[in-house]
Amino acid sequence: MRFSAFALIMSAASLPAFAQMATQPDAIQVEPVLEVPSEDFRTDWVQIGAFSVLADTPADGAHEIHTVYIDKPALEAYLRDGEFAEETRIVKEVWGTQTEDLTTGRASYADKLKGRFVMVRDSEGKLGQGPRFGDGWGWAFFPGQETRITNTEDYRDACLACHEPVRDQGLIYLQGYPALRR
Ligand code: HEC
Repeated sequence: MRFSAFALIMSAASLPAFAQMATQPDAIQVEPVLEVPSEDFRTDWVQIGAFSVLADTPADGAHEIHTVYIDKPALEAYLRDGEFAEETRIVKEVWGTQTEDLTTGRASYADKLKGRFVMVRDSEGKLGQGPRFGDGWGWAFFPGQETRITNTEDYRDACLACHEPVRDQGLIYLQGYPALRR
């Protein structure tokens, strides 16, 4: 018991995104529009880019790898219009890693899935009301393989502060997405 509580605290401490989640105890059945998409986005959507978050000691490689997906029609609309169409779904998978010395050099690669973040474009506030909708998007996080039960009570507490640095990009970290460059 004591050990698992300790392990939880340790992993929360090394994971800012999840530290916030840990303060939100309730399992919530999410609005259907915010669920992790049932499509096989790893094979059927476009991976628009990826981020590697380095370990505290960078020589240890990446602590996490984040892969980001949108579907093909949403990508085409963005490239045409320069903005995300209503109801565009963006999925970010958070991966734990393995790091090895390969023939290319020290390389980190995706290992276990930690969870998924979903944002759904809702510029006019038509998709939903309540604490997971606002600032032009719906917002939710799903731990592990979960697709419907979120622990995101209120996006203003769980998400927004970390996305403020890219408010002038519509709250999206566009700099990481080669597929969106026009
Ligand atoms: C600790 C800060 C932090 C928190 C908390 C956070 N995000 Fe993010 N999010 C980021 C950063 C930084 C990126 C891009 C770089 C990366 O993934 O490392 C990002 C990227 C994303 C992306 C990919 C699209 C984009 O904006 O580039 C989605 C989707 C996303 N976040 C959803 C959420 C949702 C939903 C929540 C709340 C449940 C949330 N995030 C909470 C920092 C955060």
